[in-house]
Amino acid sequence: MRFKRRILWLIVIVLLYSAWAVTPVLAHALLVRSNPAANAVLAQPPVQVELFFSESVAETLSDIKVYNTSGSEVDVRDVRVDPSDPTRMTVSLRSLTDGVYTVTWKAVSAIDGHQTQGTFPFAVGNINPASLPAGQQTTSSSLPISALIAKWLLLASLALLTGQFAFITFIWHPALKLSNGEVPSSLVLPKSWVKLYWIGLAGTVLAFILGVLAQAGQVNGNELALPWARETAKVLVETRLGVLWLDRLALALIGVWLIQSPFANWKRYAGFVVGLMLLFTVSLTSHAATEQYPLFPVLDDWIHLIGMTFWFGGLVYLFTGLRELKPLEDKLRTRLTSTVASRFSNMALVSVVLIGLTGLYSAVLRVGSISALLTSIYGHAMLLKQVFVAALLCIAGINLLFFTPHLKRARLSGAGNSTLVARFSKVVLVEVIVASLLLASVTLLTYLPPAKIAAPANTDFTGTKQVDDLTMEIRISPAHVGQNEFMLVLVSSDRQPVSTAKEVLLRFTPSQANIPPSEIQLIGDGTGMYMAKGTYLSLPGRWQVQAVVRRENKFDAFANFDFTINSPGSANESSAVPRMAGVVLIVIGLLIGLNLFPLSAKPALRFGVGGLLTVSIVGLGLFYLTRPVQASSGNVNPIPPNSESIAAGKAIYAVHCVPCHGETGKGDGPLGVVLNPRPADLSLHAIPGVHTDAQLYEWITNGFPGSRMPAWKTQLSDTDRWNLVNFIRTLAPKQ
Ligand code: HEC
Repeated sequence: MRFKRRILWLIVIVLLYSAWAVTPVLAHALLVRSNPAANAVLAQPPVQVELFFSESVAETLSDIKVYNTSGSEVDVRDVRVDPSDPTRMTVSLRSLTDGVYTVTWKAVSAIDGHQTQGTFPFAVGNINPASLPAGQQTTSSSLPISALIAKWLLLASLALLTGQFAFITFIWHPALKLSNGEVPSSLVLPKSWVKLYWIGLAGTVLAFILGVLAQAGQVNGNELALPWARETAKVLVETRLGVLWLDRLALALIGVWLIQSPFANWKRYAGFVVGLMLLFTVSLTSHAATEQYPLFPVLDDWIHLIGMTFWFGGLVYLFTGLRELKPLEDKLRTRLTSTVASRFSNMALVSVVLIGLTGLYSAVLRVGSISALLTSIYGHAMLLKQVFVAALLCIAGINLLFFTPHLKRARLSGAGNSTLVARFSKVVLVEVIVASLLLASVTLLTYLPPAKIAAPANTDFTGTKQVDDLTMEIRISPAHVGQNEFMLVLVSSDRQPVSTAKEVLLRFTPSQANIPPSEIQLIGDGTGMYMAKGTYLSLPGRWQVQAVVRRENKFDAFANFDFTINSPGSANESSAVPRMAGVVLIVIGLLIGLNLFPLSAKPALRFGVGGLLTVSIVGLGLFYLTRPVQASSGNVNPIPPNSESIAAGKAIYAVHCVPCHGETGKGDGPLGVVLNPRPADLSLHAIPGVHTDAQLYEWITNGFPGSRMPAWKTQLSDTDRWNLVNFIRTLAPKQ
């Protein structure tokens, strides 16, 4: 009977594990689409290259470069990640002549720091598509060994930290209690476990150092960057990832502080909380954090990790704990081994169920196609993992079906059985080794490119309004500043499509002061759907779109839809990260001080070196905390594009700019036609969404790099230059 129940449990475990094993735990910024598209042949030169990734990319670590066939760079190195859509990265181009161009890009995920890179060509003008280097679009992701080791080290260290609490609380102390005082007090907290805790903390710090240097190395093209390299500082204080790493360091230092003096009970609990928080920082850099609604996926990943550390860390303490029991007399040793083993089985079971269930949830969330996994490297790593999972399950089965009952029998009979106990220890050692290999294969999996790319987040605006007998349904796609698609679906009260409207209009009114509204007519397709494309949404902020429907023999129907377009380039977001880094650095400095002063070293050394270290780290933190916000990309146009501003801009344009850029901005002014490169076609560059106002302003102020475009900052006032920006915008075609 009991035997059957155990078999049943084993089957349940196998099923749950299989579910766990198919969970892809990875994150990569993969190129989803680009503008111009790979291998595109364009009639008109593009004004920028626009890349869309499967997840947010870190601006300071990512890059786009565009080359012509003779190998010179034709972009202006103003690579930007759109703050309102961090999956979009752009670079502006010089005026391109006809020819073939190559885009090379490098994207570092803002979530977990994994790097992908790729190249693709496009052509401008009258180019035979066959002359494009065929199928030259490549994407690859690098697999830095040092980053892998750092991740493994981190997971193993965290398993040591939290596993100890779980093992002592749920297994060791209850087991010792049962043997009412027969065991020596040194067994309550064996010295080797304090050592293991220190190793866990040291491992966490080492993983931090190795991880940061490996990440910075990816940026400057080495396996590891030097600690004082510029990239190292950039990674640490300018990316979300770096701040999470600093958090890890701070938590590890709290851990150090907690175990310095006698290891009181409350400190054990506090240490456990620190361990849990450390695990949470890992979840925050996992694939779960890239989901559109990350709350549950991240919690799920966290529980998954907690289960892993209880079980894997628990195994290490089971093994070392059994060794601690060696000096005991045979009968007592057998008895304790039996209780510890059966209690551990229970905890392992709970952990495995937790791991399985959470794995099942994330599998439901994002397993794409299992068949695809079978043919990729990713799939092979997965198979490798399966081998270890299977091996572990076999060992667990042997424990459950053989050792636990035999040990129990020995315990109940009151006899000692040292050979059995010794053999059990050996099996546990094998289990520890297999579990570390499993951990290594899981780490490898997190670095391989995903089998399934998450669809880019949908930013469309949709709304429905009921007016008289009409239901109006609007869709604006993608509801960004710039070119959008507008669609209005009309349905009558008897659910019939209304395809006979005389006229369907959309009126756009920005909430900004006195800017004139604009209007487009939508074209029906005969099924009650009316559509148009255009650049009517030219500013970030609140907009009202009024739909107007005119029909025969009916009153005109009006419906207002309100929505907000995110502001590109708000400076607050980009400055938040260095601020946070500053705060964490100050905390780290204080913690180092706290840790160094109780040390039993010479006071001179303690206060000299320790004090210096503390002061300099706190100082560094203060520096980042108070550093002025960089103004460049965050500059917002202070002047709304109202008619006065546009008229003022037009007047200046006629005097200073027409000679080169021409009346309509096409670059065909009398002076312009003889220049090389030719003046930019402003009607293309002025399309909203292509360049920010701040970018145009910057070029007018300081000139356009590598061309004859003059810098106007000494001749024209601030206001004049902003007015010019507002005027240039009107040169863009509406549709
Ligand atoms: C001496 C000729 C000349 C004059 C005068 C001139 N420009 Fe330019 N402008 C250029 C050239 C050349 C470029 C660079 C084209 C390229 O390489 O893409 C350029 C580029 C620009 C750009 C950048 C376009 C882009 O997105 O790449 C802006 C904006 C611009 N000019 C605005 C102005 C304004 C406003 C004025 C008047 C105050 C002005 N320019 C006067 C020659 C001129």
